[in-house]
Amino acid sequence: MDEERSPFRIGTLVSGDSFVDREWPRKQLRANFRSGINTVIISPRRWGKSSLIRQVALDMARDKNVRFAFVDLFQVRTEQEFLERTTEATIKALGKTMEQRMADVKEFIRGVVPQISFGVDPQSEFSLKFELPEGHRNTPDLLDLPERLAQAKGLRLVLCLDEFQNIAHLPDPTGFQKMLRASWQHQKAVCHVIYGSKRHMMMDLFNKQSMPFYRFGDILFLDKIKREDWVPFIKERFASVKKQIAVDTCDHLAERMQDHSYHVQMLGHAAWLRTRGKTCTRTTVDTALNDLLDQHDALYRRMVDDITTPQLNYLRAMLNGVERFTTKETLKRFDLGSSANVKRITSALESKEILDFVGPETEWIDPLFKIWLEERLWGSRLRLV
Ligand SMILES: Nc1ncnc2c1ncn2[C@@H]1O[C@H](COP(=O)(O)OP(=O)(O)OP(=O)(O)O)[C@@H](O)[C@H]1O
Ligand SMILES: [Mg+2]
Repeated sequence: MDEERSPFRIGTLVSGDSFVDREWPRKQLRANFRSGINTVIISPRRWGKSSLIRQVALDMARDKNVRFAFVDLFQVRTEQEFLERTTEATIKALGKTMEQRMADVKEFIRGVVPQISFGVDPQSEFSLKFELPEGHRNTPDLLDLPERLAQAKGLRLVLCLDEFQNIAHLPDPTGFQKMLRASWQHQKAVCHVIYGSKRHMMMDLFNKQSMPFYRFGDILFLDKIKREDWVPFIKERFASVKKQIAVDTCDHLAERMQDHSYHVQMLGHAAWLRTRGKTCTRTTVDTALNDLLDQHDALYRRMVDDITTPQLNYLRAMLNGVERFTTKETLKRFDLGSSANVKRITSALESKEILDFVGPETEWIDPLFKIWLEERLWGSRLRLV
């Protein structure tokens, strides 16, 4: 083991040793994909949706007839781009060699002339472009392509669409969703898994009776990884680089980051970096956390500039342990205005990606920002309201 290589992973998709179990959702997803059940996955940012799907794809690597195609809709703004990205990912997933993919493009893409470009490694990188003629004529045919291609090859395809809520930004979102749904619901060889972090937008797409995707499939709300799973994971990660850490220090580390996937890995990394000698102590974790707060100071100051006074008052009330915000006393004590105003405040904090309202719970999207507000911005003034 390279002593200078961190045992923690931040910002990249994790799998294998870097992946905390998530045994139950993995089992559920494998069963859904094997049974051809369309699935929607929703969780706040950075809790681990994309990593989970990648891990399930690895889990199913032995299912010889099942292939996974990955599409990120983050940058997709037009119907054409949507079709290009899904077609490209499908061709790639269902054809192993470049020759095979070229042949599939020729045989299965009809009505448009595709341009193919290759990356540095032509075996793994290639992209497609085509010009859609006016008026959706070719759209149904291109939407059916994954099914036609998978059927022809005797394979099953799991088509994974990340940041799916972006479909709402297309020029005619409802019309396009109708076409998608019409095509997808007849597909037998293709199973769709759709995920995204904008809870409201995702719920609007899948839970509104008036929308084409109403009751499209199984909806899974991904939970946070549990403390009892984080603790042995952190301990094992340190052990993998021949360092020790006590169980209660692991607990402290996960607790400070509210068990948030990305941030536990981030603090784990920072603590490992600062571990002198053989043992990571509680003081090491606290020093690492302080350094992270220092590093994020400028960024968080800018974030605060973008939050209005009533919104800050709401966050401050939360940090004072308030749970019911619309009582007369709370409205007055924290200067929140009327109860209608509280609704506006929570919507704004949600769209600014500060908070996420997960059922009855309120989650901080960035747990480090919460600590920064508590300890750096307000400090001893926090409770003097
Ligand atoms: N099962 C896991 N075990 C350990 N760490 C994890 C796990 N899942 C996610 N992480 C950590 O969280 C980070 C974010 O994960 P990932 O990108 O999969 O989340 P996401 O929900 O898809 O995020 P986004 O909302 O930004 O798309 C990873 O880089 C990794 O550090
Ligand atoms: Mg993701």
